[in-house]
Amino acid sequence: MQERIIQFLKESDGYISGEEISHRLKMSRAAIWKHMQELRAQGYEIAAVPHLGYQLVASPDKLLGFEIQSDLNTKIIGKKIIVLETVTSTMDEAFRLGMENCPEGTVVCAEAQSKGRGRLGRVWSSPKSRGLYFSFVLRPSLPLNQLAQLTLMSAVALAEAIENISDLKPLIKWPNDILLGNHKLAGILTELRAESDQVKFVVVGIGLNVNASAHQLPSGSSSLKIGAGHSFDRAKVFQAILRSLEKWYVKLLHDEFDLVMDEWKRRSATLKKRVRITDPAGIIEGEAIDLDEDGALLIRKDNGIVIKKTAGDVFLLR
Ligand code: BTN
Repeated sequence: MQERIIQFLKESDGYISGEEISHRLKMSRAAIWKHMQELRAQGYEIAAVPHLGYQLVASPDKLLGFEIQSDLNTKIIGKKIIVLETVTSTMDEAFRLGMENCPEGTVVCAEAQSKGRGRLGRVWSSPKSRGLYFSFVLRPSLPLNQLAQLTLMSAVALAEAIENISDLKPLIKWPNDILLGNHKLAGILTELRAESDQVKFVVVGIGLNVNASAHQLPSGSSSLKIGAGHSFDRAKVFQAILRSLEKWYVKLLHDEFDLVMDEWKRRSATLKKRVRITDPAGIIEGEAIDLDEDGALLIRKDNGIVIKKTAGDVFLLR
């Protein structure tokens, strides 16, 4: 019910009378007043003026499931959204949901993570309410060796969504970092549950720095706020990302991975650059010449030999 009240307040241009809300929601004015008190307790600033009614002055900087879901219009990703306060990692929560057979596309996000994790055992710093930290469950019928497609597709969707809601032009650093200039804005982590070579489900986790200031982030990081010079409504950013993820995931389901690849290459910060890549096998230097259909990076070493890398960390040299 509170969702409908917020919706009325948001839609109305100026004040909306208690009488009108009570008429439209078929509820007493005393009950409306009680809901207004509860909404204020949740952080909504609602002005009340006798004879005029109520007006929404400010919304809390808090992710609310119904706000994210309203007008989202996706069919898979975000059909179910769970918003939590502080968790260890949304990856753990999504795994639990995946094991409980949650519907495909279920999203779990949190205001903060006490043990946010990144690739290669790194920590993902998650300052409270300053970013978007979420994971979603997919059940694609892809063989294990093609699962990198999901990471590439997520990177494309994330970069596109950021471009749609801002003037920023993020690029993708192989395999899945989203960069603003040479600072990291977002990261993607893909984990899976498989049984005897069969993929049961995949969890994709996304961490995006939204309204964090430089002192709240590890060095070398950026945020939408740092890049654009103003804060963002996290619910709106979230919606844009979920819509874009749906768009690109549907392309994957329709066997259109070539479109994902084209878009990844167009947004790449890595291809045609001289790179150094480290992994447990050692260090390789050369030119990043292409991406193959498994998402591996092809590097031409100075002696002309082309090496295929499926994992590791890339440093852009020039
Ligand atoms: C990386 O760049 O190394 C990947 C970072 C992924 C971070 C996100 S935040 C939401 C989800 N929960 C986690 O613990 N990690 C991912």
